[in-house]
Amino acid sequence: MKLLQKMQPQDIPEVIKIIASHDEDDAEAAEQMYNDDNGLYNQYVLKNTNDQVIGVTGFEAPFSCVNTYYLSWTYIDKNFTNQGHGTKILTELLNHLSSIKARKVFIKVSNYVDDDGNDIYYTARKLYEKLGFKIELTQPDYFDTGEDQIIYSIRINEKSAEEEMLNYEQDHKNIRFIKIYELDETEKSYTFDWDEDGESLFSNQDIEIGINEAKSQNARLIFLGFPSIYKGIQDKLINYGFNKIGFLEDYYEDGVHEDHYIYKL
Ligand SMILES: CC(C)(COP(=O)(O)OP(=O)(O)OC[C@H]1O[C@@H](n2cnc3c(N)ncnc32)[C@H](O)[C@@H]1OP(=O)(O)O)[C@@H](O)C(=O)NCCC(=O)NCCS
Repeated sequence: MKLLQKMQPQDIPEVIKIIASHDEDDAEAAEQMYNDDNGLYNQYVLKNTNDQVIGVTGFEAPFSCVNTYYLSWTYIDKNFTNQGHGTKILTELLNHLSSIKARKVFIKVSNYVDDDGNDIYYTARKLYEKLGFKIELTQPDYFDTGEDQIIYSIRINEKSAEEEMLNYEQDHKNIRFIKIYELDETEKSYTFDWDEDGESLFSNQDIEIGINEAKSQNARLIFLGFPSIYKGIQDKLINYGFNKIGFLEDYYEDGVHEDHYIYKL
């Protein structure tokens, strides 16, 4: 990449300052991520001619997906916004992702409006739309009542070669419920932790334990997402009062989507 440089440990304080000037909560969550093992992997900074960090962006590859990526923390220093830097760094990042065979790139953003009526992420959403991203899923009241999570996506490269596929149908049939946990940055939105060591697609008991545990922790909502190939799970969840809110097309691989469900407590 030309404009962007790989983020180094010494860049963390400057990057955190930039993020905090926009949103303190995001700064806290970002700092935790950067300090994790491999937290700087695929993270980039934009520097000006004085070697001052003025922007940050990056990407992450979600687990169990073929050439699917999420955009990570993307911020431009408030003193340098509206000068085209955001457009340039995201264009460069998308070109890089295209060169490493990305199929789809997703961005999660909120529609939070602060107490003064400012739609904090309006510019970001307009920028994503300008670059060709489209809204693929809205998770209502995800962060808090009235604050949704919006998931944008863009298709980059067309159909992947068949040999790169994960063969979900053969390998990913059974799942086992582990526990519930509160989703990062949310006010009492929970999800289920699960793995693929089960002997069936969630038992009825698994779902009941999850819902009851969420009730006991005063959850507002439960959000779940599963590969569309787990055919039986939709009926089970709907039977227990979950609603399907949409899906992320070709999320895991071409033809295997991520189906999304909500349960209101
Ligand atoms: C979003 C952000 C990265 C954009 O960076 P930037 O350097 O200001 O972006 P640019 O100067 O390239 O402008 C981007 C585009 O935003 C849109 N935009 C900017 N200001 C706008 C406004 N007042 N009204 C509508 N659209 C606007 C336009 O589409 C603009 O493109 P254009 O100049 O071709 O019309 C920056 O504003 C930022 O850090 N915001 C806070 C953090 C954030 O929201 N991050 C995303 C969290 S998920």
